[in-house]
Amino acid sequence: MKNNLTFAHILAARPNFIKAAPLINEIDKSGYKNIIIHTNQHYDYLMSKIFFGEFDIPEPDFNLGVKSGSHAEQTGKAMIKIEEILLKINPSFLVVYGDVNSSLAGALAASKLNIRIIHIESGCRSYDRTMPEEINRILIDNLSELLFCTEKSAYDNLIKNGFNKNSTFVVGNTAIDSLYNIKSTKNLYKFKYYLCTLHRPFNVDDKNKLDIILKKLNSFNHKVIIPAHPRLLKNITKDYNNIKFIEPLGFSDFINLLKNSEGVISDSGGIQCEAGFFNIPMFTLRNSTEHLISLEYGNRLVDIDQLDFKNFSNNRKNKLPSVWDGKASIRIMDVLKKL
Ligand code: UD1
Repeated sequence: MKNNLTFAHILAARPNFIKAAPLINEIDKSGYKNIIIHTNQHYDYLMSKIFFGEFDIPEPDFNLGVKSGSHAEQTGKAMIKIEEILLKINPSFLVVYGDVNSSLAGALAASKLNIRIIHIESGCRSYDRTMPEEINRILIDNLSELLFCTEKSAYDNLIKNGFNKNSTFVVGNTAIDSLYNIKSTKNLYKFKYYLCTLHRPFNVDDKNKLDIILKKLNSFNHKVIIPAHPRLLKNITKDYNNIKFIEPLGFSDFINLLKNSEGVISDSGGIQCEAGFFNIPMFTLRNSTEHLISLEYGNRLVDIDQLDFKNFSNNRKNKLPSVWDGKASIRIMDVLKKL
């Protein structure tokens, strides 16, 4: 009976692999079947394939070749292709992660086929609807039957908005589970440095704005290492002698680089939790964050004018959430087994 349950997972972009790996492994250990559908929203080796090897997750059962495009194009293409696959495999559940366009596409396609949807990293809200990810979060949560939250404030967001307590659970952060599984590697650099990642369209698509940001980083008191996302790379027009651009890294290498840095500058979502976890001070170059709790762990929202290394401070005001103990995927599995 147990082996009849199938969990299809929509994987698309780098952060999805990090969030999905612990749960895929837990489902596998429990004797249920995983089916992996990769939309290929991220397709470069260093943005995608490297993570499958590193996390020991099976190769995708389906690759949809969606790649890049406008939001509607990317979401629409993914939706059409996911629907074709879902009609073929008819899984018991579709599992979607976070807030990327492919997760929304999967949830929309599944909901119209009456396939039950599980949302991992549910309830995060920045209350900033100018970011496409916020729209995706709201819609995915509303389409999902089981909502798994990374911590209490995400749960509270959902309950405030009328979601049902019986289908909403605080289980912890599966991306934090992945931190417990990394291999410690040698420190890549012997000198003091800051770590930076940038990929949000509002920071990198306008070359002049990007140049202003990079000039600011260029004046920091230590070198700034930037593992460069393709979206950033294609908009760099100048040299900056205090900035070292390197290729995107695998997860263990990236986290080791983060742990040993003097501070982090980024516009990523997940890195805000990771920097907080290791008590590394962080500037988030955004107006808003969907991980409000990270502001209690040394994360600070800054605009370009505040981008100055002197503004860094270790200011962890609170203990980390007790559910960030590396067991989120076990708790999710416990809920699923009881259903
Ligand atoms: C997407 C997610 C974002 C997430 C990020 C993680 C949405 C709306 N955005 O943003 O929430 O934080 O992933 O990285 O879903 N590209 C390559 N090679 C790749 C991947 C992308 O060259 O392997 C290029 C694309 O051609 C495109 C650009 O990078 O021009 C952006 O890719 P896209 O998937 O549209 O969005 P991200 O900025 O990565």
